[in-house]
Amino acid sequence: MRCLILYYSMTGQAEKAAMRAAQAATDAGWDATLCRIGMSDPADALARPMNIAASKKWTQGAQKGMMVPIAFDPPDALDRRYDAILLFSNTWGDHPSVPIRSFLESDRAKALFAGTPVGVYIVCRRLWQNNLRIVRDRVEQAGGHVLAGEPFMHPGGQWGSLIQTITYLYRTDIGRTHFLGFPLPRYGLSDDAMARIPLFTGELLAAAMIDQKGHI
Ligand SMILES: Cc1cc2nc3c(=O)[nH]c(=O)nc-3n(C[C@H](O)[C@H](O)[C@H](O)COP(=O)(O)O)c2cc1C
Repeated sequence: MRCLILYYSMTGQAEKAAMRAAQAATDAGWDATLCRIGMSDPADALARPMNIAASKKWTQGAQKGMMVPIAFDPPDALDRRYDAILLFSNTWGDHPSVPIRSFLESDRAKALFAGTPVGVYIVCRRLWQNNLRIVRDRVEQAGGHVLAGEPFMHPGGQWGSLIQTITYLYRTDIGRTHFLGFPLPRYGLSDDAMARIPLFTGELLAAAMIDQKGHI
C-alpha cells in the first residue's frame, strides 16, 4: 500500500509533523512518499522576519482564495496513484494557506483526490475549523473521501499563541519568552500535538485500508 504525504511549510511546523507521519506510515508497513509543496516564483517566497505588508498580503490572500504558482519536491511525486493521501494544511487568516489553497484548486489535486481516501492534518496556532471545512469541501468536490481531519496546534491559549506567533514571524530568533511581563508559550506545535501524529496516522491508514480493500 502506497501513501503520499503532502505539506507546505513556512516555519518548519508542518514539515516536522509530516516527517513524523511518514515515519509512522513506514513503521506500519506502508510505502510512504513525502512531498513538499513550494511556491515556484521566488518573488512569492515567505521568510522571517516578515513585515506588515507581507503579513497583510498573505493573510488577506488566504482569506480571498489567492493562488500562486506551486512546485512539488520531488517533482514526480504526483505522477503515481496512491492508496491514501495525508494532507497537511496550515492555517493563514483562518483559511488554508495560499500554497495549499493553490494546490487544492489545481487540476493535479483533483486528479489525485478522485477515488482516494484522504486524511487531513490542520497545522495552526489555534484556528482550524474553517480550514478543515474548505479542505474537506475541495477533496469531496474532486471525488475524494476525507477519512478524518484533526487540528495540531501550538501551546497556550488564544492570546498567548497569537502574541507568540505574530512576534515570532517578525523576528529571526526562537521567539519571546515574555510579553509585558507575562510568560508566553513557546512557538510551534505543542508536544501533545506532535505525540498525536503517529496515532492519528495509524488510524487514518487503517481506515484507508478498509476504504480501499473493503476488508483488512
Ligand atoms: C501569514 C500567516 C497567517 C497566519 N494566520 C493564522 C490564523 O489565522 N490562525 C492560526 O491559528 N494560525 C495562523 N498562522 C500561524 C500558522 O498556522 C502556524 O504558525 C503554523 O504552525 C505554521 O506552519 P508552518 O511552520 O508549517 O508554516 C498564520 C501564519 C502565517 C505565516
